[in-house]
Amino acid sequence: YQPPTPLVIKKKEEVVVDDGKKKVTVFYGTQTGTAEGFAKALAEEAKARYEKAVFNVVDMDDYAGDDDEYEEKFKKESIAFFFLATYGDGEPTDNAARFYKWFIEGKEARGEWLKMKYGVFGLGNKQYEHFNKVLKSALKLAPFRSGKRLVPVGLGDDDQCMEDDFSAWKELVWPELDGLLLDEDDQTSATTPYTAAVLEYRVVFYDSTDAPVEDKSWSGANGHTVYDAQHPCRSNVAVRKELHTPLSDRSCTHLEFDIAGTGLSYETGDHVGVYSENVEEVVEEALQLLGLSPDTYFSVHTDKEDGTPLGGSSLPTPFPPCSLRTALTRYADLLNAPKKSALLALAAHATDPTEADRLRYLASPAGKDEYAKWVVSEQRSLLEVMATFPSARPPLGVFFAGVAPRLQPRFYSISSSPRMAPSRIHVTCALVLEKTPGGRLHKGVCSTWMRNATPMEKSQDCSWAPIFVRQSNFRLPADTKVPIIMIGPGTGLAPFRGFLQERLALKESGAELGHSIFFFGCRNRKTDFIYEDELNSFVETGALSELNVAFSREGDTKEYVQHKMMQKASEIWDLISQGAYVYVCGDAKGMARDVHRTLHTIAIEQAESLVKNLQMSGRYLRDVW
Ligand code: 2AM
Repeated sequence: YQPPTPLVIKKKEEVVVDDGKKKVTVFYGTQTGTAEGFAKALAEEAKARYEKAVFNVVDMDDYAGDDDEYEEKFKKESIAFFFLATYGDGEPTDNAARFYKWFIEGKEARGEWLKMKYGVFGLGNKQYEHFNKVLKSALKLAPFRSGKRLVPVGLGDDDQCMEDDFSAWKELVWPELDGLLLDEDDQTSATTPYTAAVLEYRVVFYDSTDAPVEDKSWSGANGHTVYDAQHPCRSNVAVRKELHTPLSDRSCTHLEFDIAGTGLSYETGDHVGVYSENVEEVVEEALQLLGLSPDTYFSVHTDKEDGTPLGGSSLPTPFPPCSLRTALTRYADLLNAPKKSALLALAAHATDPTEADRLRYLASPAGKDEYAKWVVSEQRSLLEVMATFPSARPPLGVFFAGVAPRLQPRFYSISSSPRMAPSRIHVTCALVLEKTPGGRLHKGVCSTWMRNATPMEKSQDCSWAPIFVRQSNFRLPADTKVPIIMIGPGTGLAPFRGFLQERLALKESGAELGHSIFFFGCRNRKTDFIYEDELNSFVETGALSELNVAFSREGDTKEYVQHKMMQKASEIWDLISQGAYVYVCGDAKGMARDVHRTLHTIAIEQAESLVKNLQMSGRYLRDVW
């Protein structure tokens, strides 16, 4: 494309210099890799534009060894860009949590000394209540207030097209960086057209005789005592059960991972990250489309044969040497809609010029609406798109570096408590099976894998997955006597099953328990009232004081958890007044938003009746005119 000509040739400003080169740091807080991808894309394009500058892309977690180091290192930053994603209930991503905590929980003045010039781009989704909350609260902090913002704040909205938001924002960055990083004589050169490079790994093929041994353990973490997303723990599926009755037309799986002897541990309320596999039919389809043998054995490298780096930092981290079948099964995201950069990479390898043109058009600003409709709204998978453009067969180095993103772990609220199940991690997972607007039957990658898993109970040769635990702040009150109100329809029940197991164990060890209410919702008692017997027995044993179930498809009218809450409004209010904790788990866009409104309604009604009571009891006296 043609970058805009800078309108004003800016006066060169002083910036910190590293080995004679000006230094720019690009930070990212990422959960699923999008913020990381944008950070790397910005740096990559910038490197091509500003040869006299150094661009470092930094994972926020890797930036400082300990908290003191933040201050030291930050003092040296003069130009920085931040890509900050908002996750879950308006939280920072895992890898930004420590950095965020350092600023937010630190002294008010923390970071006031920072005089860096900076740009920020947030990644969020307008469908959620806390759209780009992390970014918005970060901007109120000292370093961002005392620094100088170079470009307007970028607010990426995943509900529309975040890639477009990023591209538009990026165009605002260049004129500013031209002013900071180019010598005055160079400024005109910034207008030379620049074409984004197609990412490509270097690939080494092996024949069957000298192929390295495939890493069957997957984890690469044997001997690790600390497990995380990069070092997951291989764990077997011990138990798998269908939770819906045969009368249901949907499916929900109860799965238990065996963690005995692995060193992996968890706390009630934590999440488990699960790396699953694509089902065989999807892998077969991908093999057909790539036109290569499943036994093609290869490894991917981010350096040239002589060891010099290749293509820069935008390349995803490679995976261990394996067969193409394994690579497609474990590492490639094949069912999400392809990014525009993937369409461009396909176009670069389309032998039919009409196909290449059409792919380029879809990825161009002119094709924006069509991309939004044909790819995004109709949820066309990468494989579907590839099937539409049969001449576009990218080589493996391009396919794994620039076309198919890395298959990401899926997160689940753990539905057990280590007090009851110390050597097991329980998961409660509804099967994702839906017709996309484009007409494809979409099977959720991990939920399908879980539903098909073979448990240890059934076979020695059971299913396993690399997993890791992510800490959460969804915790029971430290004082067991504090009342709790839990709201969780459908699989939103999961963490509360853990809570109730924990409370039962506490009770058995002599603790005194405060009052507890659980609002659960499902369609019909006969189909999807999951864990019904267990919930009843929690009531019998006293771990749960009250169970309220809303059945949405039993009567003529829908009954939801929030309707049950309104029926119990004054009890809820009393408990809250006594210091109760309120917990909500489940769908953020629909249920959680409606429950939130219901809490407001309850509070307003209670406030109104409080004022009325004041009047009635003669304690509200007004002499007004
Ligand atoms: P429905 O499917 O009949 O609409 C678990 O998924 C339960 O949550 C189902 O009974 C579902 O009802 C219900 N549900 C759907 N949308 C909801 C919302 N906005 N608030 C509360 N419950 C909801």
